[in-house]
Amino acid sequence: MSDHPALVRAAGFCETFNLRVPMLLAPMAGACPASLSIAVANAGGLGACGALLMQPEAIKAWASDVRAGSNGAFQLNLWIPDPPPKRNIAAEDAVRDFLHNWGPQVRREAGDVKPPDFGAQCEAMLDAGPPIISSIMGLYPEHFVARMKVKSVKWFATATTVSEARAAEDAGADVVIAQGMEAGGHRGAFDATKAEARMIGLFSLLPAVVDVVKVPVVAAGGVADGRGIAAALLLGASAVQVGTAFLRCPEAKVPSAWADAIGRALPEETMITRAFSGRPGRSIATAYARAAADPATPVPAPYPVQRGLTQAMRDAAIKENDIDRIQAWAGQSAGMATANAAGDVVRRLWEDAQALLR
Ligand SMILES: Cc1cc2nc3c(=O)[nH]c(=O)nc-3n(C[C@H](O)[C@H](O)[C@H](O)COP(=O)(O)O)c2cc1C
Repeated sequence: MSDHPALVRAAGFCETFNLRVPMLLAPMAGACPASLSIAVANAGGLGACGALLMQPEAIKAWASDVRAGSNGAFQLNLWIPDPPPKRNIAAEDAVRDFLHNWGPQVRREAGDVKPPDFGAQCEAMLDAGPPIISSIMGLYPEHFVARMKVKSVKWFATATTVSEARAAEDAGADVVIAQGMEAGGHRGAFDATKAEARMIGLFSLLPAVVDVVKVPVVAAGGVADGRGIAAALLLGASAVQVGTAFLRCPEAKVPSAWADAIGRALPEETMITRAFSGRPGRSIATAYARAAADPATPVPAPYPVQRGLTQAMRDAAIKENDIDRIQAWAGQSAGMATANAAGDVVRRLWEDAQALLR
């Protein structure tokens, strides 16, 4: 490595977290098979499991699969849950009627989704003994943070604003992940009701966070090539977290219609939508996401009710490989993603970034 201060900072981060490349695979709930993390970790980066939808046994099995295939460099990740939402059956009926234009008739009970038990998921994460546990949508409770510290598990906390970053550091986070609004998937805002009003681009968010916290900062959102990595490191990041740019890799195993749409998407062809889950997230501007944004369309139900209501449509879409209805999360730099092996993506992006910082 050269002695460019940005590379020296990144090298320090790598040393602390046992990496060869300052690149974290983004935890992506529903799109993080062990195969993808194994490939990223073996290329020197950090693997990741978005465990939101996983039962405790599945979390432990994922960790042991990744350990069996790699050096065990990975993060386990959970959303911090909100209290159960208020239900409005009449509004849900209107959403169900709309969804019938896009898939099978939706039963009323489809909205009664019961997420896996958060406490049990937290226990499973600790039992799995990862080097890193990360959070999004809020902060872990104090007693859990204390238990992570006892076990020397490092806490990486996602923040979408400077005040969230400050709160994360105050609560004991070891690293802040600054998630810009370019990012694919759900917005990590602590308060979901404010997420759409507080859309901050990474170029503004990252240096502002770096200026106020003492812990290392990881940049996430739209980082998809060597230029993005070099820029993030110059803006003060110690590493980058990359999601969408890995979704076309064979190891990600996402439906081909979704992977192909990522490769074609211009930045203006993604959008923020609550129409899949009830929480705002960035997806390809598919026919369904665009129709759901029409002011005449019923407003999506809150999370996780909307996720339950759209389940049948999403399942049918995957079966039929139908991009119009697939929950096609993607960041604004989607079009830079290549369909190469994940290890090659890690190596190429990092070589390109280093060349720019020499
Ligand atoms: C399919 C998908 C699922 C995601 N799920 C999660 C998740 O479960 N937990 C989380 O912290 N972030 C999640 N994210 C956000 C990523 O951690 C990260 O912020 C984002 O991918 C970075 O932007 P990029 O996609 O432009 O690289 C998800 C992103 C995608 C694309």
